[in-house]
Amino acid sequence: MKRYKHLAQSVQFRRKKGMWKPSMHDGRLLYEGEGRSAVVYRIQGTNKALKVFYPDKVYIAKEEAEIYRLLSGLPNYPELHESGEMYIVIDWIDGKTLFQCLEEGIAISEELVQEADLALQAARKRGLNPSDVHLRNIMITREGRIALIDVARFRQTKDCVNWEDIKHAYTQFYTKPFFPKRMPKWLLNMIGIMYKKRLLPVHRKKTEIIQHL
Ligand SMILES: Nc1ncnc2c1ncn2[C@@H]1O[C@H](COP(=O)(O)OP(=O)(O)O)[C@@H](O)[C@H]1O
Ligand SMILES: [Mg+2]
Repeated sequence: MKRYKHLAQSVQFRRKKGMWKPSMHDGRLLYEGEGRSAVVYRIQGTNKALKVFYPDKVYIAKEEAEIYRLLSGLPNYPELHESGEMYIVIDWIDGKTLFQCLEEGIAISEELVQEADLALQAARKRGLNPSDVHLRNIMITREGRIALIDVARFRQTKDCVNWEDIKHAYTQFYTKPFFPKRMPKWLLNMIGIMYKKRLLPVHRKKTEIIQHL
């Protein structure tokens, strides 16, 4: 029985400047965020999040659901509760993405970076190859733990160095006293664009697929 299918079906999208934007949804859905493939809501009265994929990205739902099944039981990943043709239902994470932390000046400790590193290693031990690990896909929970979301690209065969670059930037820049711990969104987005264009002095080992921050 698909308990949340009707909620997923209530989400309507329209195209705006070449991007999909949610235009309508059931009142029990509370907006959490959106990315390049989907919009995410908390389902009111529950600790579950509904991720509804854009009309041209629905094929990702099945892949992401399968990957969450493979990650099941690992503490730093949400559990999957349900999946359908164009949606998945996972644990809702009460927290903020690293991007939001930088925007709001919330300190990111070394322990958290290590925790994320271990969580990625745990995924590798399950035969996965974490990709698309960037600042909007890593969350810090209210309890101060790491939660990794958006695992759809964890079976990608090409190696992704985003996480290595984030760690490098963390030790080389973020931890230095002169480095601002709070940055406006426009600056963070600009750093993301420069990263994509390879204009940042971050060390790279291999050619890789460049993802946004
Ligand atoms: N389980 C969750 N709990 C809380 N917020 C979430 C959850 N999943 C995603 N989000 C929020 O929604 C945004 C988009 O989700 P994400 O899965 O990264 O979509 P996309 O695949 O389009 O990048 C995230 O950056 C985050 O802010
Ligand atoms: Mg994402």
